Amino acid sequence: MCRVSGYIGKKETLPIIMDGLRRQSYGGYDSSGVVIGKDSNLTCIKAVGKLENLEKKLEGQNLKGNWGIGHIRWASHGAVTEANAHPFWDCKKNIYLAHNGIIENYRELKDVLIKEGHKFISETDTEVAVHLIEKYFEGNLEEAVRKALKEIRGAYGFVIIARDDPQKIVAARLSSPLLIGINEDSYIIASDPTAIVPYARKIINLDDYEIATITLKDLFIIKEKVPETLELVPEEAEKGGYPHFMLKEIMEEPEAIENAIRGRLMIEEGSVKLGGLDSISEKLRKINRLILVACGTASYAARVGEYMLEEYAEIPTEVDIGSEFRYRKPVVDKNTAGIFVSQSGETADTLAALKEMKQKGILTLGITNVVGSAQARETDAGVYTRSGPEIAVASTKAFLGQLATLAMLTVYLGRQREMALVMGKRIVSELAKLPELAKDVLKSAPEIEKLAKKYKDYKNFWFIGRKYNAPIASEGALKLKEISYLHAEGVAGGELKHGSLALIDENFPTVAICPSDSVYEKMVSNIQEIKARGGPVIAVATEGNEDIKKIVDDVIYIPKTLEMLTPMLSVIPLHLFSYYVAALLGHDVDRPKNLAKSVTVE
Ligand code: AGP
Repeated sequence: MCRVSGYIGKKETLPIIMDGLRRQSYGGYDSSGVVIGKDSNLTCIKAVGKLENLEKKLEGQNLKGNWGIGHIRWASHGAVTEANAHPFWDCKKNIYLAHNGIIENYRELKDVLIKEGHKFISETDTEVAVHLIEKYFEGNLEEAVRKALKEIRGAYGFVIIARDDPQKIVAARLSSPLLIGINEDSYIIASDPTAIVPYARKIINLDDYEIATITLKDLFIIKEKVPETLELVPEEAEKGGYPHFMLKEIMEEPEAIENAIRGRLMIEEGSVKLGGLDSISEKLRKINRLILVACGTASYAARVGEYMLEEYAEIPTEVDIGSEFRYRKPVVDKNTAGIFVSQSGETADTLAALKEMKQKGILTLGITNVVGSAQARETDAGVYTRSGPEIAVASTKAFLGQLATLAMLTVYLGRQREMALVMGKRIVSELAKLPELAKDVLKSAPEIEKLAKKYKDYKNFWFIGRKYNAPIASEGALKLKEISYLHAEGVAGGELKHGSLALIDENFPTVAICPSDSVYEKMVSNIQEIKARGGPVIAVATEGNEDIKKIVDDVIYIPKTLEMLTPMLSVIPLHLFSYYVAALLGHDVDRPKNLAKSVTVE
């Protein structure tokens, strides 16, 4: 997704804006640009490709100034060219603008503006906005922006400056994340908190339809807000000595479980304490149907949650992906609750589904990682997964935080209903052991790296699992796909013989997730179906299971735990496997091509 940054203050702007763009670049990008203001002179430099190309163009320019904006682009409208890179300027080279989002009605606006004589230089949707603001500009930038935004439909995080209204940045938000870092003598603007961390401790999260006018002396937002304290600390946004953020975050998976359960397990009472739900706990007692909505990796966590909530809380539960839920006509009633799962809390499709549910007056809960994100602010109540900042595009530790939170939610709702004290005690005491068990799984990282070396040259992979581990098969396949660019599919073990088996041969390895649980025997027959057709098989199995070695090519062992909690151990080797394969293939693991960390547009 695109990312914007801005700075106004006493210090030199360019290094701060470039650092802001670099820190947000994990989200993937294809071109970049900055505009730096010195007094009322504005200089704009743009470049295609990596930020290094922009740095090369900036060399020797000696671009000085104390205010400016910057942008990294993830192309949605128009090819990857310098002309289509942001920031854009108006016909008089007075106003400059950078944008994160999509302007849905840009064609009709562009036609009108062209008829009014405006000259366009790009194929993008965004350029329309700078000419629209130009149309209303009479010396006061925020006034012109306010008028222009009335005509714009879509999603936006805008940062805008003007030569003829100098020493001022106007920022406006609708759906796309936009934050302002506040200091005594300066303001930093960004799409993501990681770009603000080194420069400010106080931030403001702009809300939808808010416009901020930022000058050296003052920050004025149409609709007042109370600054929050940023949780994030600078170190957390660093790699901590690992070659990639993804490996660092996989190694933090035990800690992610620890953070999610800390202070929330009540072992003696066989229950959990989820403070974020207290305000709606009585309403939750009356709920007799759950709909979980999420996208990508988060949707696989939701699918594991579906098994947990039905088996242990005995509540009819269904899962849907945000991009489908928002357009289907779900039949819901007042005893239905919607649970939205998202790491970033800014995923447009999940947020749209949330708005749809709120429209119908349905109780909404959020399972979110990013504090203060739109999902956290829009849902009636929720639980933070507390996984810490997740920088790599491929979601790993946040997934563990989501699974731990769904397991606790199952106990919370189960104990409100038929779940007995003994069962509650069993689940929470087993949950309490998981951080240590997860650390044990990570000890097999060197072996898994060897397996990655052995299998990295295959072009196609199946991942199979059953019951709680069927969604984990999908998660394993997604991870391998999104960072190694190899073809992989997750399929429920029992589905193989209904078609997918046709593809099996010695060139098509399968990763079989088969812990010693209630469906183990079924998984063994699926593995034999594959072996009978010469397919190589890597099994993820429970420690102590020696038999499995006789029927598969390679085994990765995980410790024993409750069936409903096995996904929190079986997924870790899959995250490691995909990481090592991608790293061995020399890919940019943290910033895979064509992908973004949080998908803030439809
Ligand atoms: C996962 O590795 C991907 N980055 C992607 O599928 C992600 O899970 C999806 O976009 C949902 O993101 P969210 O959890 O921030 O809503």
